[in-house]
Amino acid sequence: MKCAFIVLLCIVFGTAMAVDDKCDCQRGKRGKPGRNGQDGTPGQNGAPGQKGEPGQKGDPGRNGAPGQSGPQGQEGEPGPHCVKPSSCPIGFVFNSTLKSCYYFMYNADGSWFEGDWFCARQNSHLVSIESEEEQLYLYMRLTLDSQQRKRFWTSGNKFNGQWRWDSGSCSQSNLFSYTNWYPGDPGEPVRKSRPEEICMAVALYKGLDWHRVPCHERRNFICELNLQAL
Ligand SMILES: *[C@@H]1O[C@H](CO)[C@@H](O)[C@H](O)[C@H]1NC(C)=O
Repeated sequence: MKCAFIVLLCIVFGTAMAVDDKCDCQRGKRGKPGRNGQDGTPGQNGAPGQKGEPGQKGDPGRNGAPGQSGPQGQEGEPGPHCVKPSSCPIGFVFNSTLKSCYYFMYNADGSWFEGDWFCARQNSHLVSIESEEEQLYLYMRLTLDSQQRKRFWTSGNKFNGQWRWDSGSCSQSNLFSYTNWYPGDPGEPVRKSRPEEICMAVALYKGLDWHRVPCHERRNFICELNLQAL
């Protein structure tokens, strides 16, 4: 009876019941547990993820090709050498007889080239003493301004063995005509000139004498802008 009841329970509730041992009387012994089953097939791919955020800004593009050449510019103004100014630059004094403007540099000195450069920046040139009148004017001016014992560059220099005024004028002929050389200067053989003595300065002593000087020596200087000769 007892066993029959248990068998009945087994039938009703199946093997899931925790009564295995009790059912042995009617049914065969339980087999050993089966082997583990094989791995299942991989699941299906999941649904696509959500849309990502926008990417970062890209690098700038490359430069374009150069543009075409522009049209030709207008013709420039004439260079300073051939411009005819109508009045003296600031700081210059005018002599109406000589029709020239003069700038007297009393408180600075420099080489011949530095003086030339300074005058060029004022649209002028180192002074050219082209007549006795001009020589007298400079002598008078320097004397009145108490410039005794001072020495000044002029535009005079020696080129191809000839002394000339480097006044930058448009006229071709600017060789010395009037001169007032200090005795023996530049004439040989009283004092043989050295090759580097190719620039001309004036010195105010008894008169305003002309001297040949190495161009690198330092002198005061005088600029001139002739309003008529250009
Ligand atoms: C200009 O130069 C002439 C010639 O040397 C001279 O007689 C005259 O006094 C000068 N004029 C002035 C204003 O310095």
